[in-house]
Amino acid sequence: HWIVDKFGITNKHYPQIQEAASLLQQGEVVAFPTETVYGLGGQVKMDKAVEKIFQAKGRPSDNPLIVHIADNRDLDELAHSIPAYAYQLMDAFWPGPLTVVVPKKEDVLSDRVTAGLQTVAIRMPNHPAALALIKEAGVPVAAPSANRSGKPSPTTAAHVLEDLNGRIAGVVDAGETGVGLESTVVDCTGPYPVILRPGGITQENIVSIVGQASTDAVLKKEEKAPKSPGMKYTHYAPEAPLYLMEGKPAALQAKVEEWQAEGKKVGVLATEETAEQYHADAIITCGQRSDLESVARKLYTAIRSFNDSQVDVIIAETFSKDGLGEAIMNRLEKAAGHKWITS
Ligand code: TXA
Ligand code: MG
Repeated sequence: HWIVDKFGITNKHYPQIQEAASLLQQGEVVAFPTETVYGLGGQVKMDKAVEKIFQAKGRPSDNPLIVHIADNRDLDELAHSIPAYAYQLMDAFWPGPLTVVVPKKEDVLSDRVTAGLQTVAIRMPNHPAALALIKEAGVPVAAPSANRSGKPSPTTAAHVLEDLNGRIAGVVDAGETGVGLESTVVDCTGPYPVILRPGGITQENIVSIVGQASTDAVLKKEEKAPKSPGMKYTHYAPEAPLYLMEGKPAALQAKVEEWQAEGKKVGVLATEETAEQYHADAIITCGQRSDLESVARKLYTAIRSFNDSQVDVIIAETFSKDGLGEAIMNRLEKAAGHKWITS
């Protein structure tokens, strides 16, 4: 049942969407593009479908999924007690890379979607193929990123197949995703929004709409009981260990040479502005530092490509945490397992 096809994003009717939708209706799991990363979808009411998502990904069952909707009306069927500021955020950023965590209604979702929590995470993706698929299936679609648990999220259909070929019913291929990092997850159960996972919608974006937003819940280090269960697991990691290092390229280059002298093959995760200042066993760039959107878009592809280069260790440049930099550094810190080199 492989559905691999490229299509223009203005075209609304694709045969592969119909096939994917009917697989969803039958309780199968199908990967599809969103504007952030590819998701692995299953319909929200069927335990069997949701169970298949966890199985295919190898995902721990205590980590809840995001429910994807294509129509605002679905929100009120799934959730209750939604605060006014949450509606303001949805008005401003939906469809788009914003996920709201709100109190869930009883008996409208498989309990496995929410991993036993009383809240549900909901978003409306800004991708015509995703919206068409959800509408055609006629049910909200639970979807985590379509990678094996622990790997970088997929930004192309080829990444999905690298991880999940043979484990899922199909993938709708619309080429590369746009934002490149997962949505911003915002807890909307308290008096003001609390960012649980930074993403494409920045803290500044949220503050500009509702006046305040806390990032205190975003994990800076490994902690035992984060509010968003997914934040405690290792994520986004390449096969070789990755270290973060601040400083000028010359300082990183000195570390490269130190490790090479010990017989290691060393990779550098660089940017277009700095790449030519390195001499290493693999130098992979993730966009331009002067354009953080390009870094977000290229980051996971860059991290994945080290797996083809057989390096023993990777040193990554760092970014300022302004704007989208917060989300970029959040993912890099997880990919590194919070390992830093100090010069
Ligand atoms: O951009 C995205 O959000 C992508 C695309 C496919 O939509 N999806 C995605 O899903 O990144 P996933 O499962 O990889 O990440 C979902 C995150 C996890 O950190 C999870 O713990 C958190 O959302 N989450 C889900 N439900 C939650 C809830 N009720 N309360 C708190 N956190 C929740
Ligand atoms: Mg994920």
